[in-house]
Amino acid sequence: MALRKIIKVPDDTLRKVCRPVDHIDSHILTLLDDMAQTMYANDGVGLAAPQVGILRQIVVIDIGDEDVGLLELINPKIISTEGEQIGQEGCLSVSDIRGDVKRPARVVVQAYDRNGDLMEYTGEGLLAVAFCHEIDHLNGIIFTDKMEKNNA
Ligand code: NI
Repeated sequence: MALRKIIKVPDDTLRKVCRPVDHIDSHILTLLDDMAQTMYANDGVGLAAPQVGILRQIVVIDIGDEDVGLLELINPKIISTEGEQIGQEGCLSVSDIRGDVKRPARVVVQAYDRNGDLMEYTGEGLLAVAFCHEIDHLNGIIFTDKMEKNNA
C-alpha cells in the first residue's frame, strides 16, 4: 500500500466525468487499498478516485461508525433518495473552505465491491452525505458548487 497525492482545486482532473470500471484487476485492488490509506492518513471520511488522479468510478468511505466500517464502492449509483438535510461539508481537495450543502436525508446506493459482487447500501445522516459528496466527485462536481453559505 502507498499513500497517493491528493489533487486540489482548481486542478481540471477534478472536473472530469469518470469512466466505469469494467474489470476488477490487481491495479484496481491496489488503488482501493491506497485510497483507503490516503483517506485515513488525511482524516477524511471519503475519497473518490479522481482526487488521486484516476478518472474511474471508485470511492472509499469510512464515517467512523464501527457498524459500517470501510465501504469500497465500484461504479456506485444512487438508486433512490428521500427527504432533505443541510449540513456542513468540507473536502480533502478543497483547503480552508467548509459550507452548508443541502442533501437527501436518506440515500440508497448500489455498487460493486472488490469481489465484483453487486451490493446495496442505505445511508442516513453523515453516510447519506458521504455517498452524495463522493459520487458527485465521479461526475466532476465539487461540494462548493452546491454550497449555500460559506462558513469558512
Ligand atoms: Ni470531496
